[in-house]
This record gives sequence, C-alpha cells and structure tokens, in this order.
Amino acid sequence: MKQFRCVLISGASAGLGEEFARQLAARCQSIVLVARRVDRLNEIAESLRAQQGIEVHCIACDLTKAEDRVTLFSTMSANGLFPDGLINNAGMGDYGAFHDADWQKISAMMQLNMEALTHLCHLFLPSMIRQGRGEIINISSMASILPIPDFAVYAATKAYVSSFSEALKIELREFGINVTAVCPGPVHTEFGQVAARREGTEIHGMREWFYVSKAQVVTEAIRGMDRDAARVYPGWKIALAAAGISLLPLAALRLIMSSRPRKVQG
Ligand SMILES: NC(=O)c1ccc[n+]([C@@H]2O[C@H](COP(=O)([O-])OP(=O)(O)OC[C@H]3O[C@@H](n4cnc5c(N)ncnc54)[C@H](OP(=O)(O)O)[C@@H]3O)[C@@H](O)[C@H]2O)c1
Repeated sequence: MKQFRCVLISGASAGLGEEFARQLAARCQSIVLVARRVDRLNEIAESLRAQQGIEVHCIACDLTKAEDRVTLFSTMSANGLFPDGLINNAGMGDYGAFHDADWQKISAMMQLNMEALTHLCHLFLPSMIRQGRGEIINISSMASILPIPDFAVYAATKAYVSSFSEALKIELREFGINVTAVCPGPVHTEFGQVAARREGTEIHGMREWFYVSKAQVVTEAIRGMDRDAARVYPGWKIALAAAGISLLPLAALRLIMSSRPRKVQG
C-alpha cells in the first residue's frame, strides 16, 4: 500500500475529488485540496482533520487560468509542500450539439480537462523527480474511447487525457514515478448539473444499472495505482463494455454511434 508525504487533489470540493480526499487521508502526512469553492474545501478539511488527524491545506484556485495554477505552485512551494501524489481530478462536461454550444463553456472545458491537467503535471513533476518517487492519477473517462455525439468535445478532451497519461507513464518509469489513467463510466456527482445547458437538461437513457458509486470508482482507482496500472475502468460492467469497445473495428463503432438515439432532451 503506497504512502504519501503530500497529496494534491484538484476538484476536491465535490464528487470524486472529495471521495479521493477521504479515501487517501489515512495514507498521507498532508493533503492539499484545490477547487474554486473554498468554503466547501474548508468543511471537508475540518472533517478530515478531526477524523484522521492529518495536515490539510485548502487553496482556492480557478484551474482554467494559467496564472492561478502558477500561483498555486508558488504558494505550495513557499510552504514546503512538494507533492509526491497528484490527483488530477477537476473536470467538467457539456451536454448538447456542438454547433450551438456556448464557446465560453467549451473553451473552459478544454482548459480545465486538458491544459490544467497537463500544466499541473509539468509544474509538479520536477520535484517528484528530485524526490525519486511520485504517483499521478489522471481522471479520464470511459468517454475517452468513444466518439460521442452531443458530448463530442468532452469525449475528445478525455481521449487526450488517456493518451497523454499512457505516454507519460512510459517517460517517467525511469524516475520511479507512476501514472494511472482512471476511466469511469457514469457516476452520480454534480457533474450532470454542471454539464447541462439548462436546469433539468440532462442526458437521458443512461441506464441506472450502469452507474458505479463514487466510493467504488475511487477504491478501484487507488487499487490500480497501488499496482502501477496504466488504466483503470472502475466497475465490472464498465470494464466489460470497455473491453468490448476496444475490440470493435472503427467502422462498427461509427455505425453504433450514428444509429444510437440522440440523448439530450430538455
Ligand atoms: N460523474 C461522472 O459521471 C464522470 C464520469 C467519468 C469521468 N468523470 C470525471 O471525473 C472527474 C470528477 O468529476 P465529478 O463527477 O466528481 O464532478 P463534480 O462533482 O462536478 O466535481 C468537479 C470538481 O471539479 C472542480 N472544478 C470545476 N471547475 C473548476 C475550475 N475551473 N477550477 C478548479 N476546480 C474546478 C469542482 O470544484 P469547484 O466548482 O468548487 O471549483 C469540483 O470539485 C472529472 O474529471 C470528470 O470529467 C466523471
């Protein structure tokens, strides 16, 4: 079981990020929680300090902004916080046709899902290399292996995350640093509300039995990290579906995705 001096979790104010904080706390000397809603981070920090007696730092940061990421790095460095664990979890989606999407939202999604994740790796890797140890968990998605109409840009950002993580894992092997890409299917978090373009507009038709709990996603992600797995698809149904998809020829995948009913309503 891997132990950490300091773990940085992005998007720790809700959903999977909060769950990572709760499940990793017992293995860490200190945790740094990052998101925009610092009040939420403070509440989570209080309960972690009370339950686990560990050092918890909360840093408000809009990760879509490069200058905020640099400030996060310099604040942590000035306080002697050099993470040997980085959970690149913050992410968002956008449900609906691409042609009438709000460009500001699409742009923020690309900055958050791809640029921020890449930038945090770039900022914190030198100190991991100096320490001769490190773990990076990049939260991708099952969408990374599917071109999804009405979810096109989101799926493409996650294809980037999975590809980047696979290549980085090979580059970093000689430094004793592991990279694991986690590819969840649907999970009940705030993700759906943020991705909806109007309140109550969500993707319909996703069967409830396909959902995996936050706790299970994070438990399997951490288990994957412990065994240096390159990729984790949490939940057996998701793992089975991913294996099936990976065997399909692209022509068959195109046929399935174009004959599938359009899912966004509202
Ligand atoms: N839920 C799913 O079905 C599902 C499936 C596959 C993959 N994923 C991936 O799992 C990851 C976690 O998502 P989730 O389901 O836990 O969603 P969530 O409940 O909406 O949580 C997203 C987290 O990201 C933070 N965040 C959003 N924008 C940010 C910004 N500009 N700067 C800093 N932090 C920001 C949010 O905090 P603030 O709002 O406080 O900033 C929140 O803590 C994402 O990468 C998502 O793509 C989710």
